[in-house]
Amino acid sequence: MISASSITAILAFCASSASAWVIGKEQTETHPKMTWQRCTGKGGNSCTNVNGEIVIDANWRWLHVTSGYTNCFDGNEWNKTACPNNDACAKNCAIEGSDYRGSYGITTSGNSLTLKFVTKAQSSTNIGSRTYLMKDANSYEMFKLIGNEFTFDVDLSQLPCGLNGALYFVSMPEKGHGTPGAKYGTGYCDAQCARDLKYIDGKANAEGWQASSSDPNAGVGKRGACCAEMDVWEANSISTALTPHSCQPEGYSVCEDDKCGGTYSLDRYAGSCDANGCDFNPYRVGVKDFYGKGKTVDTSKKMTVITQFLGSGNQLTELKRFYVQDGKVISNPEPTIPGMTGNSITQEWCNTQKNVFQEEIYPFNEFGGMASMGKGMELGMVLVMSLWDDHYANMLWLDSNYPTAADPAKPGVARGECDITSGVPADVESANPNAQVVFSNIKFGPIGSTFQQPA
Ligand SMILES: *[C@@H]1O[C@H](CO)[C@@H](O)[C@H](O)[C@H]1NC(C)=O
Repeated sequence: MISASSITAILAFCASSASAWVIGKEQTETHPKMTWQRCTGKGGNSCTNVNGEIVIDANWRWLHVTSGYTNCFDGNEWNKTACPNNDACAKNCAIEGSDYRGSYGITTSGNSLTLKFVTKAQSSTNIGSRTYLMKDANSYEMFKLIGNEFTFDVDLSQLPCGLNGALYFVSMPEKGHGTPGAKYGTGYCDAQCARDLKYIDGKANAEGWQASSSDPNAGVGKRGACCAEMDVWEANSISTALTPHSCQPEGYSVCEDDKCGGTYSLDRYAGSCDANGCDFNPYRVGVKDFYGKGKTVDTSKKMTVITQFLGSGNQLTELKRFYVQDGKVISNPEPTIPGMTGNSITQEWCNTQKNVFQEEIYPFNEFGGMASMGKGMELGMVLVMSLWDDHYANMLWLDSNYPTAADPAKPGVARGECDITSGVPADVESANPNAQVVFSNIKFGPIGSTFQQPA
């Protein structure tokens, strides 16, 4: 049955293609350059440089009326005169280029990218950032992960409880969505069906916008953008997690209202993606001495992180992890909690995790599990590097006991050493404004091509 509301939705969708943000003339968009390497052969010895560039997501940019300097989006609210509806808003407003270093604390040098946490500029304070790797000025680099490995160095010694220096992949469209496109960082989507985006599928997300009660820069719109998400690296100096999040459909799709599910909706499980994921966090599976300052993988220093995406075609069979530090290869640890075995993520590992953690809802398999994750990867994925704090759960799902009221002795509850009162964004922002993450030395190629894998 077609309801009245879905007819409205279809009409609105058709009308959307005509409008788009105008490109502002106050600041030219110049992407910071960053090299990375494509590898062939074995052991990291046959790698060649690729000249890439970095773009900041559209959400961070200055939006002002085309006729002057008045903000179209001010603080965490839309100007209702400029943006009475989504189509008018896209026509009335201009999006600007970025001062990467001055406004956002983003710098590159050779093969490295530094993201700073709090950046104070003349008239604004910026918190964190989300960036994408580009192939050229107008297209994202599209990675086909299956059958390959992705390696990078990371220094997150300056990331305390509550912060997340993340490196991950999402099935975003290569050119962004609508104009101004990838050059201005449009087209983001993820497995939370992001509703905090100001611009989705060629038009604004101003209608129905609710300003955040705790975040002076953010809010939640009526629409969201969903797609499969492969969280290679969500981490700070205390905890780390490797997490596939499946979606059906796997590619870019727009959702509405609380039917989006995920972080931004009343019912987390109402959408078309697995908002929770099937994660591998060493601490959470009982290995508490593996990752952290002074531990086996020592987060007080730089480390190399290798992730292998085993399989072929669109069949993803296994996600394997290695670390290299001080010239030594360190395998991912075997779980020590009863009932779980294996140091990599497979469909079987996720099934076991569901049983051992006994979570009431474990949506990974409902959206196709590893099979649909593989299909999402086959579409090509965009590399995201970001630094963020968490206005919804204080990052406790990564680095503390979560849910906070649950018994920490119950399998799956303890995820890291941070206190359940830590990670409140206002606290983290005032106590650690100089926090930063440095990603460098990215290498990508067939299994075994980026590092010396032990036999
Ligand atoms: C909203 O934008 C209009 C121009 O479109 C401007 O005249 C007005 O001052 C703005 N309102 C606020 C609160 O900034």
